[in-house]
This record gives sequence, C-alpha cells and structure tokens, in this order.
Amino acid sequence: APDPEAQPALLGRKVVVTAGGTREPLDPVRYLGNRSSGKQGLALAETAAAAGAQVHLIAGIMDIPAPNLPHIAVEHIETAAQLHAAVEREAADADVLLMAAAVADFRPAAYAAQKIKKTDDGENPVITLERNPDILAETVARRDSTGTGPGVIVGFAAETGSADAAPLELAQAKLLRKGCDLLVLNQVGENLVFGRDETEIHILTSAARAAQAGEGSAENASDVLTLRGTKHEAAAAI
Ligand code: CTP
Ligand code: CA
Repeated sequence: APDPEAQPALLGRKVVVTAGGTREPLDPVRYLGNRSSGKQGLALAETAAAAGAQVHLIAGIMDIPAPNLPHIAVEHIETAAQLHAAVEREAADADVLLMAAAVADFRPAAYAAQKIKKTDDGENPVITLERNPDILAETVARRDSTGTGPGVIVGFAAETGSADAAPLELAQAKLLRKGCDLLVLNQVGENLVFGRDETEIHILTSAARAAQAGEGSAENASDVLTLRGTKHEAAAAI
C-alpha cells in the first residue's frame, strides 16, 4: 500500500524544462526553423509537476499548446538568443535543467528589415549563417567553475547516425563533449520520432554521475538504459 507519509519525489524542487524548436528570423516574413514537436519537453514538464516540482517551462515553437497547469509557469520564446537569456536567468536557482529544446545551431548573420525580393538579374541570394551559443555546454561550464546552478543537467540528442558512426556512438561522444550528467538519445530518421507519441530512447549516464550514484566506476565512458514507450513513460524514466 502507498505510504501516506511519502512525499512526492520532486517536492520543493525547481525544474527548468526547455521544449520545442527555435525560429531564427531571416526577414519580416521568413525564418529558419526545425521539426521539433515539443511533445517530449511537455511530457517532462507535466511529469515533473506531477512529482511535486515547481516547473518553469521555456517553450519554443511547438505543434501542441503549452499546458495550463498549476506548478508549471510557461515562458514563450522564439529565437535561440531568447532561449539563452531565459535559461541563464532561470537555471541559476534551479535544481534540475532538462534541455529538450531543439536549439538552432546557426542563425542568419544579418536580418533583412525588408522582405527579400526576387530580382531580374538572375542572381540568387546567399544566406550567411553564424553560430548560436551552446546553452547546455555553457550552463555546465558555469556550474563547474562557480559551483552554482542545477545539480542535475540533462541534454537531449536526436541522431540519425552517419556513414562511420552509429547513433549511440555519436551520443556517447556528445555526452562527453557537453559534460552534462545525462544525455537522452532519440534515434531519428525520415519517419521516426518527430511528432509521434511513441518513442524509443537511450539514457546515457556520465561516468561522474554513475560513480556518484555508486553505479559502475568512473572509468566507464557511460552507462546506457534503453526504453520503448510513450513520451510520458520516457519522461518518468528520465
Ligand atoms: N543545445 C544547446 N544549445 C545549442 C545547441 C544545442 O543548449 N546551441 C542543447 C540541446 O538543447 C540538447 C543538446 O544541446 O539538449 C544536444 O543538442 P544537439 O543539437 O544534439 O547537439 P549539438 O552540439 O548542436 O550537435 P550537432 O552538431 O549534432 O547538432
Ligand atoms: Ca544541434
């Protein structure tokens, strides 16, 4: 029987979740975007709130509306720069950061204040891009150097694999590169995962986190847990 004295697992904790995709404006009518549905991030926010957490949901562009629930404060953003500012502000006093958002790696280097028009000279426009900051890596680096910030930082990666590396190998390398505590891998392809309710995830644990939890040694690159189910089931496991 459930213990009537039991406290919800995340009671009193602040959990910051980023969800959905970003949009990088090119001119007043166009942007660069991506196919993130936001469903995994919303499932994480709802699961954390159900476990007693105070959730701050930083919501990018999503296929479904953000929840209107007690214990979930919703902040809407569009660009990676806005997401960056929101995470900097909210992660400072957070216990957990779940970076499920699909952050644009690049933005147009220049914003055209007027709509870009076709011209008669047959020349096609060239769009120059510049890098956005790596918000996840930056938050980890700040925690490592100042000792402040979320005690648990989780990254998410959607990988198709490449000619010379399997998705799991790419995810393992990414976990090390980002320095986060957990990395959640979604294997993606033409019709896999994006926008669907069912998912298959692999949860990779950093060696440091595994050693802290007493699971395995610090020499292990990482531990992996594989799970198939709905995005809510995946969220509960994470
Ligand atoms: N991320 C971030 N800031 C960025 C890009 C990504 O915080 N500018 C976060 C994502 O929210 C995600 C994790 O980093 O939690 C991994 O994102 P991913 O796009 O897989 O990693 P990248 O380092 O951008 O690698 P890739 O070149 O494969 O896209
Ligand atoms: Ca990326």
